[in-house]
Amino acid sequence: MDDLLFSNFIGPGAENIDTLRNLLNKVIDFHEGWRKSYYQEDDTLFPPSILDTKSFEKELEIFLERSKKNLPYFHPRYVAQMLKDPTIPTILGYLTFMMSNPNNHAYEGGPVTTEMEMEVTDLLKRFVGYNADGWGHLTSGGSLANLEALWAARDTYGQGKVLFSEVSHYSWKRICKILSIPDYKEISVDSNFRINLNALEDELKKENTLMVVANLGSTGSGSVDDIEGILSLLNKYNFHLHIDAAYGGFFRSLILDSDYKIIPGFQTVPEEYLYRQLIALQEADSLTIDPHKHGAVSYGAGAVLYRNMELQQAILNTAPYTYHKTDKPNIGMFSLEGSRPGAMAAATYLTFRALPPHFHGLGKLVNSSYLSARHLYEEIEKTQDFANLSKPDLDINCFFNRPGKKDITELNTKSLKLYNRLSVENAKPEFILSKFVISPEIAKTVLSDYINSQNENLISLRTVNIKHWGSLDNFRYIDLLVKELEIIANN
Ligand SMILES: Cc1ncc(COP(=O)(O)O)c(C=O)c1O
Repeated sequence: MDDLLFSNFIGPGAENIDTLRNLLNKVIDFHEGWRKSYYQEDDTLFPPSILDTKSFEKELEIFLERSKKNLPYFHPRYVAQMLKDPTIPTILGYLTFMMSNPNNHAYEGGPVTTEMEMEVTDLLKRFVGYNADGWGHLTSGGSLANLEALWAARDTYGQGKVLFSEVSHYSWKRICKILSIPDYKEISVDSNFRINLNALEDELKKENTLMVVANLGSTGSGSVDDIEGILSLLNKYNFHLHIDAAYGGFFRSLILDSDYKIIPGFQTVPEEYLYRQLIALQEADSLTIDPHKHGAVSYGAGAVLYRNMELQQAILNTAPYTYHKTDKPNIGMFSLEGSRPGAMAAATYLTFRALPPHFHGLGKLVNSSYLSARHLYEEIEKTQDFANLSKPDLDINCFFNRPGKKDITELNTKSLKLYNRLSVENAKPEFILSKFVISPEIAKTVLSDYINSQNENLISLRTVNIKHWGSLDNFRYIDLLVKELEIIANN
């Protein structure tokens, strides 16, 4: 039994809540001590009859009652989206600095948390293989990281085409519109939802490409583009390679030892293809990687990393009323966002202290997610009633209830029946899944032998195994899910 898999979490059944309670008290005690020791000689501003909290307590009760309607993202029965349980280090790191509320836009807004952010950035650079090269910072999320990277590349190299696969995150089209880049193109994918290299090369031959975006973990199916193949194209055609590793970047922790060196062979990642792409990640000119996805941190923690310092100059910005400490780093000078919570940097810092992103730390959680998805894939293969849409590259599974004949309309009817039962559409579902809807064009590639007389989108079921609970107790919840699917399909 591996303690790391449990000790950092409150747990689906609040198993570790007393640990959290004790540690939270330490944080509160620390704040009390700090405030009380600052200008001790000053008289209190508070009158002896301190604030009547009765009316606020009532508000809090109503508030807590309302929060029960939130979905159980902490539980292994919730596998719909990329949501997960925050770790205990995240909660403690965030709370410690939320209570003093630093702002990492400038050093003077948050000296300690700015330094923590720089340390996290250095760690991430080491993690992705940039080592001493490059720069980067935390962002509020992956969309902002993507936006900033394209902005910086465009202002460094000038206008040009932006190429990304048709299953890329929706932010890319939106970003091109924001940056007034009309010349973007969605490239078709193969039956594993990976970018079609021939189609990409056809576009590259037409010249004037500014950026190619590769996915290391597409949002819908977690597919990993052939980064090695894209790097061969980079040798022939000149472009800036951005890897959108917002979701899958932390899978690199599967192949790194505790010195952040690549573990030789591919024992730690059963699929050699994935192992090779995780190594190739280090060749990116820039990349997006979100601690708030597989980095075990709560929302508000994305990151963007760049290899080339020139890109920093392109977006450099100063202001007459801030950034005063000239001898210290002021992250706001080269970040698209203004105010950013120092608490988020602190939460990320403390989380990586407890769960460093290598095979013996965070990698254990990621591995558990990876194994869950492989197990679910294999169990689906064994059933009579279900089929996998593709083999997961990471830990997102897409599958469907086989129709009587190979017909998309019939397949969709079956998917929707299951989805209505096992999703947020149902008041008390046994499991909460999501659906993955793909265009008729992609459906033709993925299920080439199916009839689609109505030219409909294809609807499959989807699970995101981002929480590592799936593989525990001999895949208890994955097996339960498959059993449940079979029961519903046969009723
Ligand atoms: C591949 C990919 N890129 C970018 C994003 C955007 O990240 P965020 O929601 O943090 O803005 C996502 C989110 O799911 C994603 O999966």
